[in-house]
Amino acid sequence: MEPMRANKGLAGLIAGETAVSKVDTTLNTLLYRGYDINELCEKCSFTEVAYLLLHDDLPNQSQLNEFEQFEKKHRKIPESIYESFGALTTTSHPMDLLKIGVSMLGAINPDNELGSNTHEDNLTKAKLLFAQMPNIVANSYRITHDMPIVRPDPNFSYAENFLYMITGKKDQDDLSIKVLDNSLTLYAEHGYNASTFSARVTASTLSDFYSSISTAIGTLKGPLHGGANEQVMYMLKDINEPSKAESYIHDKMNKKEKIMGFGHRLYRTGDSRTAVIKTLGKQLGQKLGITKWHEISNIVENIIVKEKNIYPNLDFPAATAYYLLDIPIDLFTPIFAASRLTGWAAHIMEQQDDNRLIRPSCDYSGNEKRNVSTIQNR
Ligand code: COA
Repeated sequence: MEPMRANKGLAGLIAGETAVSKVDTTLNTLLYRGYDINELCEKCSFTEVAYLLLHDDLPNQSQLNEFEQFEKKHRKIPESIYESFGALTTTSHPMDLLKIGVSMLGAINPDNELGSNTHEDNLTKAKLLFAQMPNIVANSYRITHDMPIVRPDPNFSYAENFLYMITGKKDQDDLSIKVLDNSLTLYAEHGYNASTFSARVTASTLSDFYSSISTAIGTLKGPLHGGANEQVMYMLKDINEPSKAESYIHDKMNKKEKIMGFGHRLYRTGDSRTAVIKTLGKQLGQKLGITKWHEISNIVENIIVKEKNIYPNLDFPAATAYYLLDIPIDLFTPIFAASRLTGWAAHIMEQQDDNRLIRPSCDYSGNEKRNVSTIQNR
């Protein structure tokens, strides 16, 4: 069969099938296993959404109770992982720390030998990592910044515990918990995005679950993908005053620099994931009496939409919301990873349940065949 030529960046190419989520760019909707993300944000916790992605449907009450109990029971990580973070420093990138933590969990897990790829094997590992990743995210940062470890509290929900371990503050208010919880739902899954695709490639070699997740974390780290949410906040902080926003953005546009948190390979008329988090983030800002980040964001958004017809993606409002939650900027992308783990896991299971090695061809653009001359003649 004559191979088809793909566009640069595989743009427009359908690289496979999935039943996990549906991106509809005409209706501008995103469905997780048939459910609209905005309705999921309104009616379900992130834990229910995680269950939905890892299974075929939303849990009933007893399934949810069992899933939550498992998650709360398995939040701890081995002390050796904390100790390994002790050997690293503030200059270690938190996504690298996350990769180290996940790889260590894989190396320690006696059930992770090659070939342990059945659906049940993968589901158990997914549930374990779902419970453990917030601990790695929060405490890898704390340890490398000489802050005391905050151990997980099984009395808290997933989002409340995550926020508690990051900030060290108990008694989080309902709005703050809702902002983080909904952001996790919105970040959880997005079809064949770059990190998910890379996880599927690794899974397709029949490598193990943890290796596929480490691959995906490495891919998510880049600023064109998950790393954008951190870059958005650095940009907003650089602007700092609403009065400076217009000239700052025009300057960037004149230099042909990309504006982080804008644009998307699939969405051309806006990203359906932005509305919920924008609204909740604004409410949080008003409650805290800090409105300048949203004022700056509005100016930036109006200019980019009007002059370039490019719309904000989820990373744009999420950055401000996380900043208002008092989350260190370095943790924005690792938090995204802890959420996207659920989508990655669903895709790894889907890939390995009906596997064929992912191995595309490429066009050759180098020299034609030539002779090797001796070293004296080169
Ligand atoms: N700021 C300024 N211009 C942008 C832009 C941005 N954020 N995103 C896209 N564009 C421009 C491109 O420069 C290009 O212009 P050109 O045709 O004059 O060269 C045009 O829009 C098409 O963009 P392209 O880079 O082909 O889109 P893509 O599908 O390859 O890339 C992204 C998609 C997401 C990588 C890209 O929009 C981007 O880099 N955004 C910023 C990073 C980000 O927010 N990533 C998170 C994504 S969820």
